[in-house]
Amino acid sequence: MRTRVLLNFVLAVTAVIMFGCEKKEAGAAEKPEVKEKKKMSITKESFGQTPDKQTVVLYTLTNPNGIKAKITNYGAILVSLETPDRNGNFGDIILGFDTLDGYLKEHPYFGVIVGRYANRIGAAKFKLKDVEYKLAANNGANHLHGGIKGFDKVVWNVEDVKAADDMATVKLSYLSKDGEEGYPGSLNCSVIYTLTKDNELRIDYEAKTDKTTVVNMTNHAYWNLAGQGNGDILGHELMLNADKYTPVDEGLIPTGEIKEVKDSPMDFTKSMTIGSRISQVTGGYDHNYVLNSGGGKLALAAKVYEPTTGRVMEVTTTEPGIQLYSGNFLDGSITGKSGKVYKKHYAFCLETQHFPDSPNKPQFPSVVLKPGEKYQTVTVHKFSTK
Ligand code: GLA
Repeated sequence: MRTRVLLNFVLAVTAVIMFGCEKKEAGAAEKPEVKEKKKMSITKESFGQTPDKQTVVLYTLTNPNGIKAKITNYGAILVSLETPDRNGNFGDIILGFDTLDGYLKEHPYFGVIVGRYANRIGAAKFKLKDVEYKLAANNGANHLHGGIKGFDKVVWNVEDVKAADDMATVKLSYLSKDGEEGYPGSLNCSVIYTLTKDNELRIDYEAKTDKTTVVNMTNHAYWNLAGQGNGDILGHELMLNADKYTPVDEGLIPTGEIKEVKDSPMDFTKSMTIGSRISQVTGGYDHNYVLNSGGGKLALAAKVYEPTTGRVMEVTTTEPGIQLYSGNFLDGSITGKSGKVYKKHYAFCLETQHFPDSPNKPQFPSVVLKPGEKYQTVTVHKFSTK
């Protein structure tokens, strides 16, 4: 008798649970609770042809929040980056051109990947094991940004393009031949652009060589967080995680000294507008900062805030240095995207790098790459608003 009561009770409870479950499931079917997640996407279009008939393509990477990065395999250029302001209005925050033609003409490295050696090498030469290598003197007597035809003016191979749930990636590669622009060794390099669902644009750089050489790659995006072409960047607030910088001579070659920024217009350890002391810096900012992290691990290098739009950009990098360039050579002679005229200080660059002229400055962190070694650096730009 007792057993029967117990059995009935168990059956009743089971029925209630099952019915409850069924009810829940039926309800769930009428009103789905799981919303379809927006995904990362990549689209591809033609960006034209180079004069020697090489095909150039343009990829658009979009994240679920609507951030869009456009990347072309000509010069591995970051063509545009659209992010929202504090009111959710999207704007393109880097300078450049609407078409490939703009990039094929002479321009000051808008959005390009710079290589084999970013920034300057003094007197356009350096020595490795007593052998002297002569490079093109394309900046007065000095060598700038990889020479006459650097990595910014070649068509890169598209290695891989993929969109996953949390990121979209374009991997580009380039084989720089032994002796190209005067550099020793065939250098097999790749650049991987990744847009994440967390509003980051990550750039991974990799290279291998078959002879001892020097390598220093960077991206040369010209930023204006108020929107490209929308005035100068002097009101942007900048923090650089650097207590020291490398002073330069008149040709912008580091003197070799590593100097404290304290009590000088070079000090951005506390957030300051770029314009607040720029008149005290001859020619404007065009200096390499020595990052407090020392390089090697991904660490905060810079934070920029634009007060009118609320846009914030944080830069983290594994590099030991960062070049702050305040668009000093922009002079209104270039008309860029949407017919915008780019005047002096209409953008700033934050080029993560090894220090300029390191091949001739043994006291600076080494830029030498040997066969069997892998060059590997990472820089991440994270976007938000406040
Ligand atoms: C770098 C250099 C500048 C200038 C620009 C391009 O930032 O340091 O001096 O050459 O590139 O115009």
